[in-house]
Amino acid sequence: MVVSSSNGNAHTTDSDRLRAILRRKAPVWRDDTSSHFVLTRHDDVRALLADRSLLKDPANADPKSPMSKALQSQQPEGLIYRTAGDSILMLDDPRHSRIRTPLAKAFYKRVAAARGLVEEAVGRILQELDGRECFDAMAEFCIPVPVDVIARILGAEPSMRGSFRSWSADTFEAFNPARTPEQTERQVAACNNLCGYIDDLMRRRLKVPEDDLVSDMMTAQANGAAITDDEIRENCAGLLVAGNLTTTDLIGNGLWLLHTHPDEKKKLLEDAGLIANAIEEILRFEPPAEGAARIAPRDMEIRGCPIKRSQVIVSSIRGANRDPEVFAEPNRFDISRKHLPHVSFGGGSHICIGAPLARTEAQVAVSGFLRRFPTAALEDATPAWRTTLPGVVRGLSRIDMHM
Ligand code: HEM
Repeated sequence: MVVSSSNGNAHTTDSDRLRAILRRKAPVWRDDTSSHFVLTRHDDVRALLADRSLLKDPANADPKSPMSKALQSQQPEGLIYRTAGDSILMLDDPRHSRIRTPLAKAFYKRVAAARGLVEEAVGRILQELDGRECFDAMAEFCIPVPVDVIARILGAEPSMRGSFRSWSADTFEAFNPARTPEQTERQVAACNNLCGYIDDLMRRRLKVPEDDLVSDMMTAQANGAAITDDEIRENCAGLLVAGNLTTTDLIGNGLWLLHTHPDEKKKLLEDAGLIANAIEEILRFEPPAEGAARIAPRDMEIRGCPIKRSQVIVSSIRGANRDPEVFAEPNRFDISRKHLPHVSFGGGSHICIGAPLARTEAQVAVSGFLRRFPTAALEDATPAWRTTLPGVVRGLSRIDMHM
């Protein structure tokens, strides 16, 4: 439930109120249903995420924990390619840094040169909307932009963006331990299609390299980088999936926030230079990824609370981002806020590899949309938050607007 205060400027959910209580009364809280420890204070979350001695591979987690069970259930029957086992998101050193180092080197080089490509994608998609009086901004704008951009960076055919989007959403079901048999069937089909597509792309680029990330990775491998075909395939598929779902939510959450806070929208329309700061405030206020987990490598203590080896500790990104000790009036959305040390991209050795790309895309997309449709308004002030994977990812299922 979203509640607006009388000044219309505060969006606070019931779980925000619960996290505020936890921050004060139980900053290291053991959730009895999952047996995970949950941190909600900004300083604790930051320290946890930055601690490179902690683990991430669910194989190292308590087998009774949902994290470990989720991993086991991530390999349903029918998968042609092994998935999850090679993804940097869930690996510990030395494999994590062996794979992340060449991937990050090639990816950051591409991202540094991607602004023109992002501007072109945003311009083209806005052009397609010219003359339309009303549309669902999620479906017609927030979804196509990131999938178009990441497909072009990888070297995948942008004409396949519809398939990439649905494969990404269905692949993400791997993180849903309560999925139905039909969802599992879709997950398996999506993984097979996505990995099969990347596999084919890798083979084509090995023969004839082009100007794209898959070619860069095949060339790096040929030049001696210690990375296998399976590792390249799974992590390129991971970039395609991670590169569109969360960024779509960032752009969508941003459009939603700005159109429910007319004064903030006005500020941005009057001063385009505020866009970078506005995106940081959107990331703080409505983070698309709500938590990030770590596994205790040894018996340890946080704030005097004993935690045993292999127990899972979840940092509440959303909780940390609304800690009043760090952010004055944390439930107020204010794009000119000066101090914004949010933790929406995680931290330490697992810090989001896509953060610079997500920032560029969101800045270009949100400012482009406002410039093109300065008088756009919401059809309905009730937000359509998705209800799948609560506490993991947060975004809207649709944003109906008239121009
Ligand atoms: C607004 C958009 C995004 C958000 C909020 C987000 C958030 C996150 C978070 C919270 C993590 C976990 C960090 C940790 O455990 O400390 C993460 C990891 C990751 N993200 Fe993102 N992400 C976004 C966009 C992207 C994009 C655009 C890409 C790629 C194109 C990407 C690729 C990844 C990868 C590969 C990892 C795993 C890194 C590792 O474990 O070493 N993300 N992201």
